[in-house]
Amino acid sequence: MDKREQLYEGKAKKVFKTSEPGLFWLEYKDDATAFNGAKRAQITGKGVLNNEISSIFLSLLKEKGIDNHFVKRISDREQVVREVQIIPLEVVTRNIAAGSLAKRLGWEEGTRLSRPVVEWYYKDDELGDPMINDDHIAALELATVKELAQIKETSLKVNDILKEYLAARNLILVDFKLEFGKTAEGHLLLADEISPDTCRFWDATTMEKLDKDRFRRDLGNVEDAYQEILRRLGGEAHV
Ligand code: TMP
Ligand code: ASP
Repeated sequence: MDKREQLYEGKAKKVFKTSEPGLFWLEYKDDATAFNGAKRAQITGKGVLNNEISSIFLSLLKEKGIDNHFVKRISDREQVVREVQIIPLEVVTRNIAAGSLAKRLGWEEGTRLSRPVVEWYYKDDELGDPMINDDHIAALELATVKELAQIKETSLKVNDILKEYLAARNLILVDFKLEFGKTAEGHLLLADEISPDTCRFWDATTMEKLDKDRFRRDLGNVEDAYQEILRRLGGEAHV
């Protein structure tokens, strides 16, 4: 299979066509952005680490019955995935109040939620990814009621699987963001990446932040934190 023309360049990845219909080629970049692109930097090795970490999570989910776009990791920075059209929805699932939820409800960061909370954000850079509700999603025709129910059910299952897997590695899954897409046949599929860019991971003993909050909040040692996540997942650090 060959890499063909670039279809899209996002903030953290590039998407290419391949010589095989139905398959895309992803390239993970070292670029880091926060606050809707207002803060930018290069984090050496981030693309390599996120490619490997995301491959581990997506393979695990596949093994546990959560079908997703991942096919295989083909190099340090590259992955082959199934072709989907991404639904412009960021699906955030939370176990512990942090970030925008802590701010919105005035809760102290670290407050455990009595049950997981799923939130929808409209993926639109110009609007700054506003939070929306089920009715907005229906009115915008982003997903049907049935698809949305399926997305929520899958997100909660992913939460259960990852929470348990990470707890065994002394990590707390505070919250995470998923994206879903549709295949040419209209089949809904979990897509995008699952990495320290898109999740909050805290060390269960020290509560140290081991994710992109180190970049967002200028805490330093960003790459070390991503390396530590990969180490606990049993991956090899190639960087
Ligand atoms: P938030 O607390 O800033 O709303 O973030 C919730 C989760 O979503 C957190 O794990 C980080 C992730 N996230 C993204 O993956 N992309 C984004 O653009 C934002 C704002 C958050
Ligand atoms: N993806 C966000 C951005 O647009 C950053 C974040 O994860 O907070 O820059």
